[in-house]
Amino acid sequence: MKITVLSLFPEILEAYFASSIMAKAIERGTMVAELVNIRDFATDRHRTCDDAPYGGGPGMVMKAEPLAAALDSVQSASAATEGMRTIYPTPSGRLFTQHDAERLAVEEHLLFICGRYEGIDQRIVDLYVDEELSIGDYVLSSGEIASLAIIDAVYRLIDGVIRSESLIEESHSAGLLEYPHYTRPEVFRGLKVPDVLLSGHHAEIKRWRSARMREKTKAVRPDLLAESERICDERSEEPNGRNQGN
Ligand code: ADE
Repeated sequence: MKITVLSLFPEILEAYFASSIMAKAIERGTMVAELVNIRDFATDRHRTCDDAPYGGGPGMVMKAEPLAAALDSVQSASAATEGMRTIYPTPSGRLFTQHDAERLAVEEHLLFICGRYEGIDQRIVDLYVDEELSIGDYVLSSGEIASLAIIDAVYRLIDGVIRSESLIEESHSAGLLEYPHYTRPEVFRGLKVPDVLLSGHHAEIKRWRSARMREKTKAVRPDLLAESERICDERSEEPNGRNQGN
């Protein structure tokens, strides 16, 4: 997958693409990353990228021309334009979920526009953007962090990026929150690892984990539990995703 990010502050993103699992995926060729500085496409002497909003009001709006020039340059340089999906992270977008991460993980090329100030000129949204996504009901000071959150949730699902077993039982993949994890030592500050996890009894461990998943979800996200049970009813499965009779 190729990921292109348009930003006024690409240095915020550089460290992420140069570190850890993403850096390894890029080295292996599973991922290609491209950071584009929107300011490089501003044509006036001051390389202006923002202006006051028509109609008045506080703050500044990111101008259409530098953004359009940056987007056109990415499109014309891209061999896989047909497969490119343009995403604008914004608090006024649709709420991004694990389901979106799974859907986007099969795309060939994702392009992210990082907004700043009050946002970008609406005509860029109208002309170029395929989807507006929000990462939560709160407002960040920039789109860079929101873009990284979406990128991180997406790229780790791509084949070969991380071990597929790690993805199977984690939070949200079965519509429920994940069970608690423990590693050595067996006793830490008087707190002991649950006996069942030391038992070696795989069926019991599975049952215990599944009960903890339901318990945690019921306590902190009852909305997810109701939805998971609804989907499982539809599929005549148990809420933890296993088929009945297994
Ligand atoms: N930009 C600022 N806040 C955001 C949010 N909550 N989601 C996506 N993009 C944003």
